[in-house]
Amino acid sequence: MRPARSYVDNPKWRRQHGWRTAVWQGMASLGLTGWHGLPVSRQWVEIHRRKMPMRHLDPAFEKFRIVQMSDLHYSPMVWKRYLEQFVHWVNDFQPDLVVVTGDLITGGYFWSGRVAHILKHIKAKHGVVCTLGNHDYSMFGKRMPNHGLNRASHLEAALEKAGLIVLRNEPLRIHHNGSKTPLTLVGLDDEWTGAIDADKGFAGVGEDEPVICLNHNPANAESLLPYPWQWMLSGHTHGRQLAGRLRRPYTHGYYAVADRHLYVNRGLSYGQRRKRWCRPEISIFRLRCDSKVHNPAIDPAFDGKPVSAACEA
Ligand SMILES: [Fe+2]
Repeated sequence: MRPARSYVDNPKWRRQHGWRTAVWQGMASLGLTGWHGLPVSRQWVEIHRRKMPMRHLDPAFEKFRIVQMSDLHYSPMVWKRYLEQFVHWVNDFQPDLVVVTGDLITGGYFWSGRVAHILKHIKAKHGVVCTLGNHDYSMFGKRMPNHGLNRASHLEAALEKAGLIVLRNEPLRIHHNGSKTPLTLVGLDDEWTGAIDADKGFAGVGEDEPVICLNHNPANAESLLPYPWQWMLSGHTHGRQLAGRLRRPYTHGYYAVADRHLYVNRGLSYGQRRKRWCRPEISIFRLRCDSKVHNPAIDPAFDGKPVSAACEA
């Protein structure tokens, strides 16, 4: 049996939470947050599966498989072999499309080419689509805009040179198995650094298209409701909630946002994963043709609760 399939059938992550939490808390008390995760373990990763019903979807896309990865944060703290194992797993799932929703690196030009070299080994029928996150610009957010812009452009060039698709405030339309109408992806640029331009990204995208929006930071999901997306795939949070004025509206899992669907992937990097619902994650979506406008909050078919309840069980 393939490793990823075997893992899905026999998850072993529960065994690890006791000692991982203890080690994490010990390291955090010494100011060494993040280093707790260094032992490589595929048993700790959640593979989350979810149906993705969409209106206006061409029947040729029925059961089209999208795999989402996020927040790889390739850096000295995330080992190459740790990320490479996920590439093998993703290939096991035979995806039609892979999306990577930002924070591919944490810092430094050096890592751009290296993360592209890892991701170029992903095999997906319609390729790998990447959007950028705040760390792809700068470790210092808005304080270093020029430096950040250069680094994001350097990363974009490295990814495209490796054959990956990068969407920065632009749509991508995909045809599949002779479909008459396409599936539309809109990749938005990072909000924290001010690079997002939703008007540009959704230019020419109609209400009658099945649209998936890739948006690194889900905090702005409600402000993007005027645009015609049905699903939004995000990352950024690593599953964590923050306190006070930094409190996050969306931390992990599925959310109904008005009549839209938001999924927040918890990412793959080592850092900040003390809580059970902060486990690293790969998400797998299967498209479904659906003619109705649902109310996701009350429709049990959508499982409107965040996934944390299931993870904590
Ligand atoms: Fe991140």
